[in-house]
Amino acid sequence: MQKHKKITIAIDGFSSCGKSTLAKALAFELGYVFVDTGAMYRAVTLFCFRKGFVSKESVNQNAIIDHLNQIEIHFERNKETSKLEIYLNNEVVEREIRSLEISSLVSKVASIKEVRQKLVVEQKKMGEKGGVVMDGRDIGSVVFPDAELKLFVTASSEVRTDRRFKELLPTEPNITREEIRQNLEERDYLDSTRSESPLIQTEDAVVLDNSDINQQEQLELALELVRTRMHG
Ligand code: DC
Repeated sequence: MQKHKKITIAIDGFSSCGKSTLAKALAFELGYVFVDTGAMYRAVTLFCFRKGFVSKESVNQNAIIDHLNQIEIHFERNKETSKLEIYLNNEVVEREIRSLEISSLVSKVASIKEVRQKLVVEQKKMGEKGGVVMDGRDIGSVVFPDAELKLFVTASSEVRTDRRFKELLPTEPNITREEIRQNLEERDYLDSTRSESPLIQTEDAVVLDNSDINQQEQLELALELVRTRMHG
């Protein structure tokens, strides 16, 4: 497949729909760059949380905006595990950004216009040469509106809660399904109703509902679509 032109693949959808899993598998299969933009918003949120600029009770937007130039985010492949890891000011924060605490604050930080502007500029740069699979909420609508393939991934609320629960249980053993379900619902609501580039399903996006299919089946469906776009 790599002999064909390198396309841009934008994957959007609600939280915990398996977007990153699909994006990672597609990038691996195609030899493309994978970018998890949710991790970038999470890393900015972790920075703000550590500085005390965001908490359950409040958000200090001005302080966040004033400190944006102190935040450097990049991805690097771990030499031992071969997995991509996110760095916040040269510290690996892959695990820290996935906690329920950061999950419950990230939508507040991601709704700030200046935060989005900074990250969108970086995301456009990462994908400017094509051959990229990027997942998030505004990839097909804002970051790469001309992407050759746009996927909108969905799954039932039950399936999503279950997946997140299994993912978090090893590091947060006291967590309950109900806490996770609430967090997902709240984030979906905030992400799709915010004024700054809300999550939308663009008209040209192909909907992929993975509630009743496994990862391999989902990957094959997506690869079939990639083939049609590469030749188009
Ligand atoms: O994909 P995720 O659940 O790791 O994303 C974390 C949060 O970041 C999500 O609740 C919304 C926000 N986000 C966003 O606003 N825009 C993106 N392109 C990616 C994520």
